Amino acid sequence: MVEHVIDNSKINEIKASVDIVDVISEYINLTEKGKNFFGVCPFHDDHSPSMSVSREKQMYKCFSCGAGGNVINFVMDFENISFLEAVYKLANRAGIILDNKVYQRKNIESKHQDYYTVYDLAHKLYTNNINTELGKEAVEYLQKRKLDMKAIKDFKIGLSLKDNRMLINMLKKKGFDEKFIESCGLANRFEEGYKDKFYNRIMFPLYDLNGKVIGFSGRVYNREDKSKYINTQETEVFKKGELLYNYHIAKNIARRENEIIVVEGFMDVIRMRTIGIDNVIATMGTACTKQQLHLIKKMAKKIILLYDDDDAGQKANYTIAKELVKLGCHVKIALLEDHLDPDEYILKYGKEKFINRLEHAVNTMDFNLNYLKKQKDLSSSQDMATYVNEMIAELNTIEDPVLIELTLQKISDESHLDISFLKSKLTQKEKPEKKLVFKELPKEKITKYKKAEQYLLHYMLLSEEVIKIYQKKVSYLPTYRYRMLAREISYFYKEYGYISPSDLFTFLRDSEEEVMTLREILNLNLKEKYTKEEIYDYIKLIRDGNILSEVERIKNQMKQEIDVAKKTEMALKIVDLQKSLEEEI
Ligand code: CTP
Ligand code: MN
Repeated sequence: MVEHVIDNSKINEIKASVDIVDVISEYINLTEKGKNFFGVCPFHDDHSPSMSVSREKQMYKCFSCGAGGNVINFVMDFENISFLEAVYKLANRAGIILDNKVYQRKNIESKHQDYYTVYDLAHKLYTNNINTELGKEAVEYLQKRKLDMKAIKDFKIGLSLKDNRMLINMLKKKGFDEKFIESCGLANRFEEGYKDKFYNRIMFPLYDLNGKVIGFSGRVYNREDKSKYINTQETEVFKKGELLYNYHIAKNIARRENEIIVVEGFMDVIRMRTIGIDNVIATMGTACTKQQLHLIKKMAKKIILLYDDDDAGQKANYTIAKELVKLGCHVKIALLEDHLDPDEYILKYGKEKFINRLEHAVNTMDFNLNYLKKQKDLSSSQDMATYVNEMIAELNTIEDPVLIELTLQKISDESHLDISFLKSKLTQKEKPEKKLVFKELPKEKITKYKKAEQYLLHYMLLSEEVIKIYQKKVSYLPTYRYRMLAREISYFYKEYGYISPSDLFTFLRDSEEEVMTLREILNLNLKEKYTKEEIYDYIKLIRDGNILSEVERIKNQMKQEIDVAKKTEMALKIVDLQKSLEEEI
C-alpha cells in the first residue's frame, strides 16, 4: 500500500520541522492573543475568528464548525489534497528530501510520466502549428470569434493539421510506439494502419487538477462535421468526469472570492477570462458527475450556475442546483436570454450587461418557480396541482426557514391556496441540534453509557495513565468508531511510549472516519483535570452498559425459545449477569 511507504517517524520529523503557526498564517491571517493565535476559519462561512491555533500543542481547532487537527490536516483540507501530498508539500517547505525509492506513488507517476510526456509533446506541436503559415485559417476563425493572438497564447490554443499522421510520426521519432499513442487517446487504429485522432481541428488543451495537460478537445473550424468537438477518450490519466475545465486556475481565485461560477463550455470560460472573470470552471457539457459536484463544492461557499439559455442548459441548472443544495452548498442561478451561452452573450451584449446578469442571479427556489411552470398551463387545475406539488417537494429539500416562508407566499399568491394549507403539506423538519458543519456525524442518542465512552477516550488523549487503565480494565467499547479510536490510541502508545493528539492525527493519516471521531472527541468541552475515581466511574458505566445489553439480548432469545430447559438456563445466565453489575472493576 502506498499509504505506509513513508514511515511515521519520517513524517513526524517533517511535521516537527515546520511550525503550525507559520504554515497556517501563510494561508489565513492569524492574530496572536495570549497563548494562542486566532483567525477566520476557512472551512465554514465564518465571520468572526473562530479558529484557534496553538503553537504549544501544534494543533488548530475551530470552535464553531469542529474542524481541527495538526498541520498536515490543515494543508490537506485547505488545499484539498491527499495526506501524502500534504506531507510532501511540508517536506519540501522544510527542505527535507524524501528518498524516491520509498515513495511508491512515484512509480505510478513514472508510469504516467510517459503519458504526460506525450501530451506535452503533442501540445507543443499543436501550439507551434497554429503559429505557422498553415495555421492562418484557424487564427482567422478564432479572430472572427473575437479571440486575438494574445488570447490564443494565454489559453494555449493549438491546431492539428490536415496531415493525419503528423503527431504519430513526430512521437515515433521520440521513441513512442503507435499502440501507446493509441492508449493515450491520440491515435485510432484502422485496417490500413494508425491515424491521428485529431486532425484539422483547433486544439484546446485539457488539464488535470494540478494543471498538467492530460488530453485535448478538438473543434472543427473550416468544414462541416457531425462532431463539433471531439475529446481524448478516457485514459489512465484522463477522466473527463473527474475534472473541471479551468479548475487549476480558478481554484485559488474562487477561494479568495468565496465564489465560483459554473458554465458548460470551454469557450464560455475563455470568453469570461478575457473580460477579467477568472473564478469560473466548465463541466464540459450539461452533465455533472458526483466527483465534479464535490470538486465544485470544495471550491467556494457560493456557487453560481450559468448554463446556456436553452432546454438542456436550463435542465442542467435545475438538476445540478438540486444536487449541490443536497450537499449543503449555497447555490444561485444566473439567467441569460435569447438562447445564448455566456460566450455569445458577452459578445452580443458586452461585459457590463453580462456582469449584471451575474449580479441578478436568483436563488434556487425562485428559479424553480419559473422552471417548473414551463410547459404547464396554470389555468388548468390539474397542471396547477402538479406545479404546487412539485414546488412543495422542492421546499422539502431545503432548510432555510425564511426562504421556505417567502416561497410559500409566492405559491400561495399564484395558486390562491391558503398559506397554512400549503404549510401543512410540508413534511415536518426536526430541529437540527447543535450542528457540526465540518463533518456531519451520524445522528444518535447520547446515552450515559455512550457519554462514558466519549469521556474515557477524551482523557486517554490527554493522559498516559488513563491509557494504561484502559489497557488493563476495558475489554470492549460498544460503539464501533469509539472502539476503533481507543485501539488506535492504545496502539500508538505501545508503539511510541507517549500520547499527543497532534501526532495521533498524523498516525491516523487519511482514514477519514477515524480523523472525524478524533475531532469529535477533542471537541468535547470537558475540564482538563480528571480524578481516577471519575475514570473508574466511566469504565464501570461502560461495563454496565455492555452487561445490560447482553441481558437484553438473552431476554429476546428467551422469548423465542420453546425448550424449557434452555429457557431456564438463560434465566440463570441473566441472574448471573445482573449480579455481576454489583462487582467492582
Ligand atoms: N462538449 C464536449 N464534447 C462534445 C460536445 C460538447 O466535450 N462532443 C463540451 C465542450 O466542453 C463544450 C461544451 O460541452 O464546450 C458545450 O457544448 P456546446 O454548447 O455544443 O459548445 P460551445 O461551448 O457553445 O462551443 P462553441 O461556442 O465553440 O460552439
Ligand atoms: Mn458557444
